[in-house]
Amino acid sequence: MTQSPGQGKALDNLLTESRTFPPSDEFAAQANAKPELYEEAKADREAFWAKQAERLHWDTKWDQVLDWSDAPFAKWFVGGKLNVAYNCVDRHVESGHGDQVAIHWEGEPGDSRAITYAELQREVSKAANALTSLGIGAEDRVAIYMPMVPEAIFAMLACARVGAMHSVVFGGFSAEALRTRIEDSSCRLVITTDGQYRRGNPAPLKPAVDEAVAGAPSVEKVIVVKRTDTEVAWTDKDVWWHELVDSQSDQHTPEAFDSEHPLFILYTSGTTGKPKGILHTSGGYLTQTSYTHHHVFDLKPDTDVYWCTADIGWVTGHSYIVYGPLSNRVTQVVYEGTPNTPHEGRHWEIIQKYGVSIYYTAPTLIRTFMKWGADIPAKYDLSSLRVLGSVGEPINPEAWIWYRENIGGGKAPIVDTWWQTETGAIMISPLPGVVATKPGSAQRPLPGIGAKVVNDEGVEVEHGGGGYLVLDEPWPSMLRGIWGDEERYKDTYWSRFADQGYYFAGDGAKYDSDGDLWLLGRVDDVMNVSGHRISTTEVESALVSHPTVAEAAVVGASDATTGQGIVAFVILRGGAGDDAGGAEAIKALRDHVAKEIGPIAKPRQIMVVPELPKTRSGKIMRRLLRDVAENRAVGDVTTLADSSVMDLISAGLQSGKSED
Ligand code: WT7
Repeated sequence: MTQSPGQGKALDNLLTESRTFPPSDEFAAQANAKPELYEEAKADREAFWAKQAERLHWDTKWDQVLDWSDAPFAKWFVGGKLNVAYNCVDRHVESGHGDQVAIHWEGEPGDSRAITYAELQREVSKAANALTSLGIGAEDRVAIYMPMVPEAIFAMLACARVGAMHSVVFGGFSAEALRTRIEDSSCRLVITTDGQYRRGNPAPLKPAVDEAVAGAPSVEKVIVVKRTDTEVAWTDKDVWWHELVDSQSDQHTPEAFDSEHPLFILYTSGTTGKPKGILHTSGGYLTQTSYTHHHVFDLKPDTDVYWCTADIGWVTGHSYIVYGPLSNRVTQVVYEGTPNTPHEGRHWEIIQKYGVSIYYTAPTLIRTFMKWGADIPAKYDLSSLRVLGSVGEPINPEAWIWYRENIGGGKAPIVDTWWQTETGAIMISPLPGVVATKPGSAQRPLPGIGAKVVNDEGVEVEHGGGGYLVLDEPWPSMLRGIWGDEERYKDTYWSRFADQGYYFAGDGAKYDSDGDLWLLGRVDDVMNVSGHRISTTEVESALVSHPTVAEAAVVGASDATTGQGIVAFVILRGGAGDDAGGAEAIKALRDHVAKEIGPIAKPRQIMVVPELPKTRSGKIMRRLLRDVAENRAVGDVTTLADSSVMDLISAGLQSGKSED
């Protein structure tokens, strides 16, 4: 019996990338990270993390770095006590930096506000006193459903200050999504705004809260920040932020909480079932967010201006707007709006205005900027930028190079950071100034982190091989469980490689011949073509490396001969002419993939579409594309950022233009 070539391998390794960009001598000389960091962590992991924890102020020092005896439930810095908000705010004022700007806030309509650490301390103290006045204290749950306004950050820090857990729900989610999240963790308080600016117009937000609260009896009060001055219905649970908070004392003495005191819950949706309330605690989480933010972004608190474009509704906003950066005394930009309001150069205008030096964004946005055209950023002075970051999905080499050339002036190192809501902080990323970067690769676990690529049996694959990404050592900012569901926590993350005790959360990855790590997308998305296990990421990367293609998504559709056939959905670049969607052009794209990867990866079919279905955090929903590719009725679209996208795609297909 003959074996098909790819059999037995968890994932085939198809694309190769040989470009590398070593750091300049100047960058390396001034970098926060030094090569010795890897050695130090390897020599004694726990001692290494203990040293990183010293970045923080502890009211009581811990007696034990890690207690893993109740695995997979970790305890870090056992016996230690600290206040997370004190570490992010007060200690910087006490060390003489009260006048330093913590937040340059830029509203979508063009209003702005500079908030110093001294002012942040007063605002957070007032908000903490307000929470106490409502009887909110340690371990109560508070839902925060707000746009990117400064009060959202004050509210998160105020919760941390009094030991209440926040549960931030993205302001773009529906009333029903908010209600189920409030209910799951029995929140007693909701903090929201009257409305939010979105694409140039005020849109109401509070009506969704009213609807959610009507079906969530645990809620006793709703604090409402006035942002858009829209008229809102009022209930006896409602209280205005400016009436409740502004009258409070701006003095508040923070209490130290146990290192394992819960800090927040953040809901993340899985492929099935209800959203999971991912639980994070205090000391370990703040240690790793602080450590990673310092080393991965090379933050110099006296000179840098940092900007992370995420929303506080996602973990990136928690870890790399609020906790990591503020613990490091950052000066940062926080922007309220969308990147094309009022024009497609808004981000570059903001970078120029504030002299942003570190910029952290997502591949989906980089590809959007590519689609809009390089002439837009070219109109602005971006010379202040010295480090660029990427997070959220694999960044294809084409987008990486575009980012480096057009935003980073051909010199700023790019850190491709792999992590998850569950990991709490960055796990895999090059260290700028130490590692020669490689377009498209997250490269290696950070010092102190254990990660590897294994096959079905949990055995590490060779260089050049692909498989499953696992984390083989506990880490300080790891999730402590799923709210209210211990079994689901064990099943979801720890059962696939239970014998080895590895954490596995669904990503495929490979090593290249240098041993660098490449993320290959979710293993549920892997395609099996004639026994070859092919990653969606690699085929998408190959498509996007063609000059006519702006974005691509591929799925495996059942195929009578090959098991699965590759079906690609592509968005063409702004400049690509009409004939780019014609039969000749599509043949050229298929040949291009065959040339880049190999004939096995040649898409069976390519469809030109105007948009791709994405979740609100920018991830492509391949499940819906599989429905189209297999000629099924399209499934549940409620978590799409724009639910009309699937209609657009189907309409385009009926015109017959895009079939191969
Ligand atoms: C999933 C986690 C991490 C904060 C934002 C997303 C994918 C994330 C990368 C990267 C390739 C990445 C993974 C991961 N992902 N960063 N640099 N390269 N893939 O958090 O919503 O919890 O999603 O995002 O698939 O498992 P999240």
